[in-house]
Amino acid sequence: MSADAQKKAAGEAAAQLVEDGMVVGLGTGSTAAWFVKALAARKLDIKGVPTSDGTADLARDLGILIVGLDDVRRVDLTVDGADEVGPGLSLIKGGGAALLREKLVWEASSRCVVIADAAKQVKALGRFPLPIEVVRFGHIHTGQRLADIAAEFDLPPPRLRKSDRGLVITDGGNLIYDMASGRIDAPAALGEALKSVTGVVDHGLFLDLADEALIGTDDGVVRLTP
Ligand code: A5P
Repeated sequence: MSADAQKKAAGEAAAQLVEDGMVVGLGTGSTAAWFVKALAARKLDIKGVPTSDGTADLARDLGILIVGLDDVRRVDLTVDGADEVGPGLSLIKGGGAALLREKLVWEASSRCVVIADAAKQVKALGRFPLPIEVVRFGHIHTGQRLADIAAEFDLPPPRLRKSDRGLVITDGGNLIYDMASGRIDAPAALGEALKSVTGVVDHGLFLDLADEALIGTDDGVVRLTP
């Protein structure tokens, strides 16, 4: 089974968790897109809180009623993809540069379900470079402070994310630095250190946030809990 077929299976399984009347957090990325499509096909009476402009466009096109995070008191269920799913459902997210809105929606949610293909499961986080969102003002200085922190954790300096069209700008107008590490031995400590830097808005370590995972595998969708 291809990775995309596994993502589709996980997204479709997650769509079955949604019930009429729910406020649903809509994740970002190719796996979350399968969820949004399967959810729209169910034609439930729900409100969707998107985690990116791209997801908002997709959901709206498919007929899902879109509201902002501040339009609701609470999100009942958020379903989102991940770049890595590690021990205890610790996650790296932000490969699609949507980590800030994703984390805001996840933290406002009663239940968070991560969906992924089997290749995303890792024994230790860090194979995927850790995205760090920083404000544009003074970002070279912020990047230097990030490099200092990386050195403290025996990690190489993070790199500013660029695409063919230049610097990658997030939906919030910020920049992304990627910290390629190979292995993050102390994710909680690293996350705290990164958050202590003034120019850092947030990072892609999602620790103690996922309530369950639905992983698409060749043997079907496997449900994991922390
Ligand atoms: C978006 O910023 C990310 O957090 C995505 O959820 C993550 O990159 C997973 O993307 P895919 O589902 O496309 O692999």
